[in-house]
Amino acid sequence: MSADFHSWVAAHQARFEEVLRGLLPRADVAPQRLHEAMRYAVLDGGKRVRPLLAFAAGELAGADTARVDIAAAAVELIHAYSLVHDDMPCMDDDVLRRGKPTCHVQYDEATALLVGDSLQTLAFQLLAEHHLNDDAARQLEMLKLLAAASGSRGMAGGQAIDLASVGKALTLPELEFMHIHKTGALIRAAILLGAHCGANLTDTQMSRLDHFGKLIGLAFQVVDDVLDCEADTATLGKTAGKDADNDKPTYVSLLGIHGARDMAQRLHREALETLAEFGAAAQRLRELADFIVLRKF
Ligand code: IPE
Ligand code: IPE
Ligand code: MG
Ligand code: MG
Ligand code: MG
Repeated sequence: MSADFHSWVAAHQARFEEVLRGLLPRADVAPQRLHEAMRYAVLDGGKRVRPLLAFAAGELAGADTARVDIAAAAVELIHAYSLVHDDMPCMDDDVLRRGKPTCHVQYDEATALLVGDSLQTLAFQLLAEHHLNDDAARQLEMLKLLAAASGSRGMAGGQAIDLASVGKALTLPELEFMHIHKTGALIRAAILLGAHCGANLTDTQMSRLDHFGKLIGLAFQVVDDVLDCEADTATLGKTAGKDADNDKPTYVSLLGIHGARDMAQRLHREALETLAEFGAAAQRLRELADFIVLRKF
């Protein structure tokens, strides 16, 4: 990955942090404790992979950055909500997230529940309130896309399967189905929403991007499974070894570390192939795909 890529990432991350700061309710506005907890869960942490994918897809589609900022924020708010709920005692029961105590530990369970509710609705409010495409029908498509990716046939459905699978040995297709939903759906949505803010791409190109998102979204969770077992808590900023402790079926439990790494590499290669026709214009997406598979945290 080039120095140029690193400075592109750093510049977008820094600008986007300020965007999120401005979009979240202020902590001195009532109900203060809920607003403070929402800010705690979203700000100052996370790799912002989904927003970065949205920015790269937005650049490919010739989109205005200010519009992509809103689409990216909507996805990141849903993601942050999913993490808050994922960490609660009724789900993965984790105490560390993004190097800080999890939301329910820092505040309390009821607040964490409401943080999730509020972040989710704020995401849709943003997509409805801001002008994101000159074609109103396309903007409505964006709302539907995020709703589908977040709900019972997307992330929340994947989480339900994850919880129902504790202690079970899933088959490879079952595991893939779970990962594509719990993690892949939002990653796919991030790419498509970024692209929908622009107008440069044909339907065929959009479906290529969607296929790229499907492959790289799955690769993302395969790598998450590998890191859970190989990396340490300080590097991850979340508790290492949690999947084995919670008896979760993962790519590592099914294929072993080497099998899971091979799988991630195969998905990476296939994802890059889907970008071939875009040529140099898709370079950022390629670099993000590399980052997703090679990352150490
Ligand atoms: C963690 O996502 C949860 C999964 C969907 C695997 P990230 O690894 O993107 O978490 P942050 O946003 O960087 O903290
Ligand atoms: C979580 O998967 C996916 C979500 C929808 C949040 P994990 O449970 O593996 O995520 P981490 O490892 O806690 O970040
Ligand atoms: Mg989980
Ligand atoms: Mg978890
Ligand atoms: Mg994990």
